[in-house]
Amino acid sequence: MPRLAILGATGKLGDKLITRALDQGYSVNALARDPRAIKRQNERLTVIPGDAETGAGLDALVERCQFVVCAIGSLRPVVATAMDKLLPQLEALKRFERFVLISRLGTGESREQSAKVSGPIQQRLPVILGPVFRDINLAEERVRTSRVPWTILRSTRLTDDPPTGKAVVVGPHEPPPHRITRADLAHFLVDLLDQPGHVGEELTVGSP
Ligand SMILES: NC(=O)c1ccc[n+]([C@@H]2O[C@H](COP(=O)([O-])OP(=O)(O)OC[C@H]3O[C@@H](n4cnc5c(N)ncnc54)[C@H](OP(=O)(O)O)[C@@H]3O)[C@@H](O)[C@H]2O)c1
Repeated sequence: MPRLAILGATGKLGDKLITRALDQGYSVNALARDPRAIKRQNERLTVIPGDAETGAGLDALVERCQFVVCAIGSLRPVVATAMDKLLPQLEALKRFERFVLISRLGTGESREQSAKVSGPIQQRLPVILGPVFRDINLAEERVRTSRVPWTILRSTRLTDDPPTGKAVVVGPHEPPPHRITRADLAHFLVDLLDQPGHVGEELTVGSP
């Protein structure tokens, strides 16, 4: 049975990722700074206490995992530091298949694309949230230069609306897609894990 580790598992997207992964037959290791934040119980769900910024719990989190997803979100710059702790652990794993970093529209090559989204605040988000975007850009760079098989998913704005069953991927020079529900993004991401393509790719994802 494939095993997926999730960083950011206590967050809103993390919750949807756990649901989709369990539904698809994965065993799930979920990192939690406060394990009480994950209330559900499932025989295939293991909650691992830890903190990605200090590296605490990461060895137990990724043990026996073929897949790892980072869905950490913070207004403090923690993701690049988390990558420094996590990626060497993944490089040491045997039979590791895929690491997915959830990033944001507006990083890397998608910077210009983000200026075309609707809404002046959304357009200016990489400036308004400067330290957050610098952190995720650095995190992407760490991932790109690592030896793990990776995919970077740059999401448009996330919503808590009900799932629509629709997600779309576009290249960095195409018009940006619309905001996407967390449920749809989780569905798209978990389904992508066991597909052969997209290793070493940086994808902008949203709704049509
Ligand atoms: N919100 C958007 O519109 C949007 C748009 C594009 C991309 N994204 C990306 O989508 C992802 C999920 O977003 P979201 O809004 O669903 O997130 P969220 O609900 O804010 O959850 C953030 C998660 O990150 C965890 N976290 C923060 N610092 C951590 C640390 N040092 N160690 C371990 N975990 C830590 C939080 O843990 P605690 O519960 O312990 O705080 C929580 O599980 C993020 O990667 C975000 O950058 C979001």
